Amino acid sequence: MTNKKLWGGRFQAESSSIMERIGESISFDQSLYKVDIQGSKIHAKNLLNIGILSEEEYQKIILGLEQIQKEIENNEFEFTPKLEDIHMHIEYRLTQIIGETGKKLHTARSRNDQIALDVRLYVRESISLICKKLFDLLEILLTKAEQSIDIIMPGYTHLQVAQPIRASHYLLSYFWTFVRDYNQFLFTFSVNDSFVLGSGALAGVNYKINRELMQKELNFSKLSENSMDAVSQRDHILNFLFAGSLLLMHFSRLCEEIILFSSVEFGFISLPDSLTTGSSIMPQKKNPDIAELIRGKSARLFANLQHVFVLLKGLPLAYNRDLQEDKIPLFDANEQIQISIEGISEVIKNFSFHPQKMQASLKKGFATATDLADYLVFQHKVPFREAHELVGSLVGLAVQKGKTLFDLTYEERASISPFFATEEYFTAISLENSADKKDVFGGTAKNRQLEQIQVAKKTLTNLHKIWETT
Ligand code: ARG
Repeated sequence: MTNKKLWGGRFQAESSSIMERIGESISFDQSLYKVDIQGSKIHAKNLLNIGILSEEEYQKIILGLEQIQKEIENNEFEFTPKLEDIHMHIEYRLTQIIGETGKKLHTARSRNDQIALDVRLYVRESISLICKKLFDLLEILLTKAEQSIDIIMPGYTHLQVAQPIRASHYLLSYFWTFVRDYNQFLFTFSVNDSFVLGSGALAGVNYKINRELMQKELNFSKLSENSMDAVSQRDHILNFLFAGSLLLMHFSRLCEEIILFSSVEFGFISLPDSLTTGSSIMPQKKNPDIAELIRGKSARLFANLQHVFVLLKGLPLAYNRDLQEDKIPLFDANEQIQISIEGISEVIKNFSFHPQKMQASLKKGFATATDLADYLVFQHKVPFREAHELVGSLVGLAVQKGKTLFDLTYEERASISPFFATEEYFTAISLENSADKKDVFGGTAKNRQLEQIQVAKKTLTNLHKIWETT
């Protein structure tokens, strides 16, 4: 291979080794080969339409590009830092295969609008894979919620037992979180949805190419309005990284609960052996590594977002080579987002609840103390402040005796108030009744949970429709 660069016309001296090493992006942008070829094919068609290419030359270019794609996919393609980036590699090889005609492909195009198009195609493809995986996760959550509607578990505030909730309520809470994440990716899709080829290096191109035609063929909903903006802005990448960061932050919270809830101290859930790991020294260990790793990956996402913000800050218009560094965080984020969604889906699908342990915690945590106070208010017209005081004394007594509200004796209860020495006392402290009294839209009562499941199902159907029409 000659050391002469494809852009080397004006240069007398060869690039120094450090220039080549620092300037190459082929080590990471080779993954753009498919979208780069996709863009080049459309561009070639345009060159045919405006008479730069003859029909025969156009056909040669298309066949050449297809051969290159096969070579790359069969690992028969030679990548070298000397050719800098994916665009140069493909153009150089094309000229090797089809001769001089290959040199016509870059007419009316700059690598600045070429890379801008490639990245938009990449982001679009990534969002569609992510949304598909998120949709599967939402379905898994919904199925699990339906199956666990009769399981009562503690709900927490300050990580102290607060009130009984239905397990479906807990799971659906994440369902709605991930619906918002899904919508955030759809928004990113629309931010990304502009066709940029024809912007040239920064000012447009000297040829009457038909931008609308290319836009329609590549399924973008609009043309970028300003060529300088098109080659220099990276808002779609930032939006993608933000959507990913938000999702991973949500995952990290769920993972934290998976880790806590599967510990001996809580014992609320178990992960299957297939999703845990052992210790090389402690034979008894079964570690929730999958949840820890996904919790850890959130840090990577935030760093990727920060990376691109810092990269863009203070950059003058239009293209600057700094922008080459935007791909590393983008590619990494895409990979981490997808693997994390798959991981979370497996965890949700496969963990099991231990209702007895959760019940014991609810009792130990006096989770229905508020319901007992409300019983005094409703049934015996006790002012709430006084009811609060009486139940507080009863809890104090139970703590002192090492008991729960459920196993205090008749005498012990009567010693605080005659209203505690009744049959209704047990109805008032029942865990299930407590849940079912939260009979408001969005609440934990069984009928409200059934209602929410229906709303969630409708939402899923709508998400599906939105996706089909995007
Ligand atoms: N590899 C470059 C990038 O990723 C492509 C654009 C190069 N443009 C240039 N003027 N050197 O940004």
